[in-house]
Amino acid sequence: MKDLVRMKTSLSEEIEALLNGQVKMEAKSSSIYLAMAAYCDRLGFENSSEFFFQQAEEERQHMLKIFRYIADAGGTPVSPDVANVPQEFGSFRGVYENALEQEIEVTNAINKIVSAAYKGGDHTTANFLQWFISEQQEEEFTARKRLELFDVIGEEGIGAYMIDQKIPEIGPPTSEDAEA
Ligand SMILES: [Fe+2]
Ligand SMILES: [Fe+2]
Repeated sequence: MKDLVRMKTSLSEEIEALLNGQVKMEAKSSSIYLAMAAYCDRLGFENSSEFFFQQAEEERQHMLKIFRYIADAGGTPVSPDVANVPQEFGSFRGVYENALEQEIEVTNAINKIVSAAYKGGDHTTANFLQWFISEQQEEEFTARKRLELFDVIGEEGIGAYMIDQKIPEIGPPTSEDAEA
């Protein structure tokens, strides 16, 4: 039975499982960003809230991209269960620390799948994941820049308000601007 299923796809069981794990991770990221949007809204930081709403949507798109890839490759994508989504993040800064940590975890997970794909000779999946490698480079860069605002501006007085004002201004790395 297992062999019949595998005959319909060039994805190995290992890669399919890793990709489904990534579907789940992107779905969880989306849910966490949504919780961050609500948390920032409760604190009164409107730009941050809006930013995390957008991030939640982006992560859902990432989830769908991998989900469709598995389906298109003849595999079996699994609609993810998402549990234990945190709703509290300790502080305004805590949200951005958490966001950066989350992006770093995703980068590491993507890198692991690419390594496994190359190891198994699955250049198709490795090629598909190149988009995610670039995306993670950008996501990590901008998450770091957002967190740096807390050190550069400081949260005292109107600092926290100023940080929230600056959030929409953070763009991709200049190396990417040059290519655009
Ligand atoms: Fe993502
Ligand atoms: Fe992300």
